[in-house]
Amino acid sequence: MAGTAGDTKNVTVPWVAAAPERGERLVMVTAYDYGQGRTADAAGVDVVLVGDSLAMVVLGHPDTLSVTMEEMLHHTRAVRRGVKRALLVADMPYGSFHLGAVQAVGNAIRFMKEAGAQAVKIEGARPELVAALVAAEVPVMAHLGLTPQSVHRFGGFKVQGRGERAREALVENALAVEAAGAFSLVLEAVPADLAAEVTRQLTIPTLGIGAGVDCDGQVLVFHDLLGLEERIAPRFVRRYAELGLLAREAIERYADDVRAGRFPSLEESYGEGKRPVEDLKKLYG
Ligand code: KIV
Repeated sequence: MAGTAGDTKNVTVPWVAAAPERGERLVMVTAYDYGQGRTADAAGVDVVLVGDSLAMVVLGHPDTLSVTMEEMLHHTRAVRRGVKRALLVADMPYGSFHLGAVQAVGNAIRFMKEAGAQAVKIEGARPELVAALVAAEVPVMAHLGLTPQSVHRFGGFKVQGRGERAREALVENALAVEAAGAFSLVLEAVPADLAAEVTRQLTIPTLGIGAGVDCDGQVLVFHDLLGLEERIAPRFVRRYAELGLLAREAIERYADDVRAGRFPSLEESYGEGKRPVEDLKKLYG
């Protein structure tokens, strides 16, 4: 893992922010519970994001709008227990910052104090909120392009930044959130050449999802990467495994064994004197 977070003890906000200077690409993945956090951390990713995509891939909602602060806190706490080395970022859910700086800072502090997040991610071009959060010692990852919390304004999950005016606005907004103090920027579903241009103009790292290869790093949703999400995937998703299929096949084999009386076997059962007490003590302490 040369040149990756595997070399560093604990990933920090300044380490992530300085990735472009070091010429290193950043790896971010989402996670929503202890086991997923532990797996991502053990795989050596740099940043673990507890995304509000929780609403869709874990809670089964059609979009991200309904997930609450309490739900996000609950899952962030679980991920925190699994992540030892990567930077842990919590996503500010819809409605947790839209009333202004006081609400945004209050909720961000909850993520840090109650759930152990080291930074928050905030969707949209909101330099004034970024500045207020940074002033309250909350490191901020900004998020532009297809911001899923704006799904109704956009009229669907649509590629953003197409056309001259939209391109200019995206570059301006990226520069504004950087100037306000964001330490990194997620660019979602924007043309690859526009993401490359933004990446050239910023000093903070860009993390792309559907934004081409020239970003400073990439992020994928845990369930998309591992083939656990059944809904039609956007074109930017690369499935590195088909765990959903594997899990279904395993459960079908288990069900067949139960129905045919093949599970449990004698070895998987207890009997008088069959297992010495010492064995049981080893198992259950
Ligand atoms: O909620 C999420 O998973 C995200 C990532 C896709 C960046 O915002």
